[in-house]
Amino acid sequence: MKIVSSHQEIRSLSREWHQAGRTVGLVPTMGALHRGHVSLVEASVRQCSATVVSIFVNPIQFGPEEDLDRYPRDFDGDVEKLRDVGADALFTTTPEEMYPAGFQTYVDPGALGDGLCGASRPGHFRGVATVVTKLLNLVQPHESFFGQKDYQQARILLRMVQDLNLDHRLRILPTVREVDGLAYSSRNQMLTPEQRREAPKLAAALQEVRKAFDRGERRAEQLQDLGRKQLEGSGFRLDYFEVRNDEFLAADALLEDGAVAAAAAFLGKTRLIDNVLLGSAQSRLG
Ligand code: PAJ
Repeated sequence: MKIVSSHQEIRSLSREWHQAGRTVGLVPTMGALHRGHVSLVEASVRQCSATVVSIFVNPIQFGPEEDLDRYPRDFDGDVEKLRDVGADALFTTTPEEMYPAGFQTYVDPGALGDGLCGASRPGHFRGVATVVTKLLNLVQPHESFFGQKDYQQARILLRMVQDLNLDHRLRILPTVREVDGLAYSSRNQMLTPEQRREAPKLAAALQEVRKAFDRGERRAEQLQDLGRKQLEGSGFRLDYFEVRNDEFLAADALLEDGAVAAAAAFLGKTRLIDNVLLGSAQSRLG
């Protein structure tokens, strides 16, 4: 596996692969890789003939009070995992190279970026859409791979590819979970043992909402109340628990097949997010 940190080098490596007729897959990450990330890399290795994984903790998607400084990093562990799974290149870069003095052009995801995580993290999705655009331009992949775990992010990026006519296939893969249901996240390692025992309750509350939907409940307010109640008395401080319709994440009173239940909540200082699709929606993603 090649480790590339120069922008020029990743461009010429990708150009070589294109010329050799290889399909290039990109898996953008912020590192501290876990099995969720690895599942995306495996999908790219299966479906593309050259896989680039990027590791870049993107400062412009963190707010001033957020955990940029505490964000976990494990470069050596990441390299080992990527070698094991057969990635062809690891692309790392620095904030100084990505955002040199004078940088001022951003990709604005519009209303899709406002609610849910966007409400408590203003500017977050502008930072995500901007860095993903830059990574796509640097690496020029045919396909890129993202997780359903960050559902709003996935919806924004799918929309962005369409709206900006990017010649690109963006794929969304299912959330990978620990045996107790907790979605893998780089932030899980910031939990104390006691918080780690509470953590699966977020996924469990979402599953309760899914079951109520399967029993025929379509009223958004009822489903939201049910989810919020499930977390009452747990160690979580709720940021939001919402159900939304369709690819625009519409806040309708009645839900349809393909809706999502999404939640964000804090255990101490650590913010966890998770979601489940309602009905038979999985096949429509990516
Ligand atoms: P990061 O949180 O490192 O996640 C990288 C990719 O892994 C994202 O597409 C995310 O949805 C996916 N992922 C995370 N946990 C997962 C899980 N348990 N199962 C499946 N996939 C999972 O998301 C980002 O980084 C950044 O916003 C990024 C897109 C790299 C832009 O900076």
